[in-house]
Amino acid sequence: MNLRFTEEQEMMRKMVRDFAQTEIAPFVERMEAGEFPREILKKMGELGLMGIPIPEQYGGSEMDLTSYIIAINEISKVSATVGVILSVHTSVGTNPIVYFGTEDQKQKYVPKLASGEYLGAFCLTEPSAGSDAGSLKSKAVKSGDHYIINGSKVFITNGGEADVYIVFATTNSELGSKGISAFIVEKDTPGLVIGKDEHKMGLHGSRTLQLSFEDMKVPAENLLGQEGEGFKIAMSNLDVGRIGIASQALGIAEAALEAATAYAKERVQFGKPIAVQQGIGFKLADMATAVEGAKLLIYRAANLRQNGMKCGKEASMAKLFASKTAVEVTTEAIQVFGGYGYTEDYPVERYFRDAKITEIYEGTSEIQRLVISKQL
Ligand code: CAA
Repeated sequence: MNLRFTEEQEMMRKMVRDFAQTEIAPFVERMEAGEFPREILKKMGELGLMGIPIPEQYGGSEMDLTSYIIAINEISKVSATVGVILSVHTSVGTNPIVYFGTEDQKQKYVPKLASGEYLGAFCLTEPSAGSDAGSLKSKAVKSGDHYIINGSKVFITNGGEADVYIVFATTNSELGSKGISAFIVEKDTPGLVIGKDEHKMGLHGSRTLQLSFEDMKVPAENLLGQEGEGFKIAMSNLDVGRIGIASQALGIAEAALEAATAYAKERVQFGKPIAVQQGIGFKLADMATAVEGAKLLIYRAANLRQNGMKCGKEASMAKLFASKTAVEVTTEAIQVFGGYGYTEDYPVERYFRDAKITEIYEGTSEIQRLVISKQL
């Protein structure tokens, strides 16, 4: 594996880093107050960031997966909220149509998603089907040229803001996960009911909510792939989704490490900066080592996928390790800051709150271990 980024990938990193500093950083306070970053997403669309790995033929930027992962990473250093919105929109909100859609479906939806005119969301999780996604209960029944879908979903990222929802429902409950089908559902579909917003510990500017389907009438032509293919569609796109979330976690950890290092160099106690005192210096060394390890796992998984190889195990390893790193590094960053770290005057408390969810969504750490151990 080539451990150097290409010139194009470095250019992407610089462009996104500049954008994050100039456009996203000033918006962080508004997101912390609960505002969804519509304006930011519009600007990202204009820069081609809402469709980085999507083929040009469908309006995307057609860059490699590594460039996409770099973009999530740089954005998440400044705002994990914008990072998750981008990751869910692309990996699981748009890619399923790119990989499994008919030509008509691709022509109809992908250019709008890739340009940022539309925002995507992914509806798999249900109140009684979280880690055991294959046991979902939402039901789709074919009726003439429509499917009638009933059921409910929880924890839907981009819910209420999305224009297109990839919805999973069973078309044959006797077949378990093999009876699950996927549908493209537009936001104005009759019977799609937007439910309660969750009030989360972190990621304050991203919307996460409940949805219900009450005799929701979806045109049969919006079936994605074949009936029964839904679980495979969900799982294979979650492989890339998990690399994206790992990259988000890495961004949070890097931001915390950078803040803690800068503070430790300035903060003088016992006559010298705390950075050169072993208790803190070794802490920073461990934090930096974990960050570097996460980075290698993430870019290795992305590299496998962009070369057309299987990456399920590696994506799970990257997410498992990067999310653990994010939680540990942000916890230690607060410790380096001492009492100041526990206040809202410094950003490390936000990093700490944003980090925890990376061990939960797109498959908990326990599920990542299950995926990895099954393949050993
Ligand atoms: N790619 C393609 N196919 C896959 C696959 C993959 N990565 N993983 C599994 N499959 C296929 C299998 O090949 C199998 O098909 P065959 O029998 O034909 O081989 C079928 O799917 C069933 O696989 P399993 O037997 O492994 O299924 P399982 O039910 O035992 O376990 C699981 C699957 C890994 C536990 C899965 O349920 C899982 O990943 N759970 C976690 C759910 C999750 O990640 N949810 C995230 C929600 S989205 C989100 O969080 C977004 C957000 O808001 C940020």
